[in-house]
Amino acid sequence: MAIIGAGMTEFGELWDYSFREMGIRAGLEALNDANISSEQIDAMFVGNMSAGRFIDQEHVGALIADYAGLAHTNVPSTRVESGGASGALALRQAYFSVASGIHDIVVVGGAEKMTDIGDAEMRSIQSAAADQEWETVFGATFASLFALMTVRHMHEYGTTREELSAVAVKNHRHGALNPRAQFRREIKPEMVEKSPIVSSPLRMLDCSPVSDGAAAVVICTSEMAKQFTDQPVEILATAQASDTLALHQRKSITEMLATKVAARRAFDMAKMQPKNVDVAEVHDNFTITEIMAIEDLGFFPKGEGRKAAIEGKTAIDGEIAINSSGGLKARGDPLGATGVAQIVEIIQQLRGNADKRQVADAKVGLTHNVGGTGASVIVHILGAGP
Ligand code: COA
Repeated sequence: MAIIGAGMTEFGELWDYSFREMGIRAGLEALNDANISSEQIDAMFVGNMSAGRFIDQEHVGALIADYAGLAHTNVPSTRVESGGASGALALRQAYFSVASGIHDIVVVGGAEKMTDIGDAEMRSIQSAAADQEWETVFGATFASLFALMTVRHMHEYGTTREELSAVAVKNHRHGALNPRAQFRREIKPEMVEKSPIVSSPLRMLDCSPVSDGAAAVVICTSEMAKQFTDQPVEILATAQASDTLALHQRKSITEMLATKVAARRAFDMAKMQPKNVDVAEVHDNFTITEIMAIEDLGFFPKGEGRKAAIEGKTAIDGEIAINSSGGLKARGDPLGATGVAQIVEIIQQLRGNADKRQVADAKVGLTHNVGGTGASVIVHILGAGP
């Protein structure tokens, strides 16, 4: 299976664009990149977490197909939801539809418009991906749930304030090189340490922001891909795992078991090991999440991930480039778009088109997209085409 085209909007507070306009801009860029016309599309999958509550619009699969000018082709278009992992799950569903032989060319989109409403409402919608009866009803937000994980990680492994700050500093440094990133400014550790507390010990600059944005890719079989591009990117593995929705029901809150399981399934499918990966986009909605992700994906032993950013091992020119796009932290996190944007970054890296943030000799890339506090995890492994 191959990816033949990719596109995305800038991420940020996109006051000038409506939800549908963002979706279309990303989609058209992906179609142009793939050298195909809209009439050649056999199906669409759209990752979106909560348009019904963010913009009062449900039925967004058909909406995007309509505004992309495809209503007359009657293309089947399906919305996919898995909290913050909706985008990666849309790609996985598209993969199945091509692998089944039913469809040849499929467009995968992801979009979310989060900034058109007030803070309290936004937070209530976002928190709906946590367990409403066990967590949200008691006032838990994602920041407070990840704060619990941070405190426990500090207790068990000695993770420090400085090590958390280094993750934010690195991802802002990468984001500063990405023209599509929400934040294109570098920050210093002392800025993280002086930023306001959101949920202790997490401060504002430990958090990903609230974002608008859309991203899209086009997939087809590897045989067909040769007709459209001499730079196809192969999907070597797709894997998914789930876990309890509520944090307190897990055996450990210093790891995401679903990440470990999805990673094992993905590496088995690709017949690879973590050491084969050159560049990875991992879910860093909070600084602690990146530290846990690089441990649970097998890039660093448990308890050692905390040192990776501070020692420069996860920088673009480090041992393994983590979040070269700036990650959720600096590129932004429009929930349903995030998993697809991670794929867009890896495509640019594997094609050698990532400009100032290019990872040298990138041949294998991995994406890791999380829903909630780890109740859904989707991992993809991509390889540079021939
Ligand atoms: N990182 C860096 N800068 C940020 C930021 C973040 N996460 N959030 C906001 N800013 C910046 C804004 O760009 C703005 O800068 P400016 O003054 O130069 O324009 C400034 O900080 C104030 O922005 P504002 O929107 O008023 O901040 P806020 O206090 O309303 O929100 C957070 C800050 C951290 C609470 C918000 O970003 C947040 O809720 N993040 C967490 C999202 C989350 O839970 N994600 C998990 C999904 S599972």
